[in-house]
Amino acid sequence: MRINQYIASAGITSRRKADDMIAEGRVRINGEVMKIQGYHVQDGDIVEVDGVRIEPEQKKVYYLLNKPAGYVTSTADKEGRPVVTDLVPDHIRVFPVGRLDYNTTGLLILTNDGELANKLMHPSHGFDKKYLVRAAGIVTLKEAKLLENGVDIGGFITSPSEVDLIRHDRNSTVAEITIHEGKNRQVRRMFKAIGHPVLELSRIGLGNLSIGRLAPGQCRKLSPAEVSYLKRI
Ligand code: URA
Repeated sequence: MRINQYIASAGITSRRKADDMIAEGRVRINGEVMKIQGYHVQDGDIVEVDGVRIEPEQKKVYYLLNKPAGYVTSTADKEGRPVVTDLVPDHIRVFPVGRLDYNTTGLLILTNDGELANKLMHPSHGFDKKYLVRAAGIVTLKEAKLLENGVDIGGFITSPSEVDLIRHDRNSTVAEITIHEGKNRQVRRMFKAIGHPVLELSRIGLGNLSIGRLAPGQCRKLSPAEVSYLKRI
């Protein structure tokens, strides 16, 4: 990026006025006054205007990913396993908002908007997180009610949730559960607490966002309406 554009995108001034600043010797690159108008800023260059370091404002991006199983919800993994950011088709660095377990699939938001991410991850928000679960064995209505009222998941009683039993076969039950909090491995621990370990888990909704027809591994940009909804939460 040309130096005048770099200064303008940091919100300091217009490109034309940036040229004046450069001519006036007010711009330093890596500590040296830079008077070359057409200089291209390189990766790692430290740019200062009037002695203050500046950086261009990053364009904010917001993605909704259908996380596949076998991906770590992180930007890097010490064990070299695939990470969710590998699936975002953008050169802008993004990070996941919240966590899904390695083997959980479904709706995950990725963004470079740190302010929004912090807000959404704050426990006080407690907006709906809806999961499709396949659990071992046949879950009865009575057991579903236990889940709804709150179960002990090891030193913590879960707050009320909503459970819909959808179908079952001889060995497993498919259900939807909506929780309003986000303890580590909460859904798996809740079903384990009623004696029906989770076999498959997928997040299908977050607030009023839904996974829709997005296939595992695919991601899409959030619409402006979806972004402003998240900002309003
Ligand atoms: N609850 C879980 O147990 N795992 C997840 O990945 C998300 C919610």
